[in-house]
Amino acid sequence: MIAYVFDTGLKTRHIAEIYGFYVSAAHRGEGVGTRLLEQALSLIRKKKGIVKARLYVNTEQRAAVNLYKKAGFVVRGKIKKELKVGRRFFDMLILEKMF
Ligand SMILES: CC(C)(COP(=O)(O)OP(=O)(O)OC[C@H]1O[C@@H](n2cnc3c(N)ncnc32)[C@H](O)[C@@H]1OP(=O)(O)O)[C@@H](O)C(=O)NCCC(=O)NCCS
Repeated sequence: MIAYVFDTGLKTRHIAEIYGFYVSAAHRGEGVGTRLLEQALSLIRKKKGIVKARLYVNTEQRAAVNLYKKAGFVVRGKIKKELKVGRRFFDMLILEKMF
């Protein structure tokens, strides 16, 4: 699965946000994620006026970070302690791809 939304604000409606990217563990490493991301980007690009795609990813999701970079995303920054799972905090990277 992969999902995206288009911002609707007057000053931000040139931005698409990607989220909910997931491939079941039994089928990882087979290229499914790459194809899902390519397809999402190709659909996003078709919308008039869209200038960039943005997403957030847990710094520990190395496979996802690598895949995003290969697809042309660039890391713009790191947000500290953005997630808390049990007693453990996780940092998030913010990435974007310009069209
Ligand atoms: C991220 C995810 C969607 C990738 O799906 P996938 O179908 O396994 O991806 P692909 O098979 O297309 O792999 C593409 C690239 O991902 C990276 N990758 C895949 N598995 C990896 C691993 N175990 N370690 C490091 N990088 C890895 C590689 O760059 C790979 O390219 P390569 O095969 O040329 O080396 C999948 O790992 C997943 O569901 N992870 C858990 C959820 C998650 O992290 N979602 C993203 C949240 S923002």
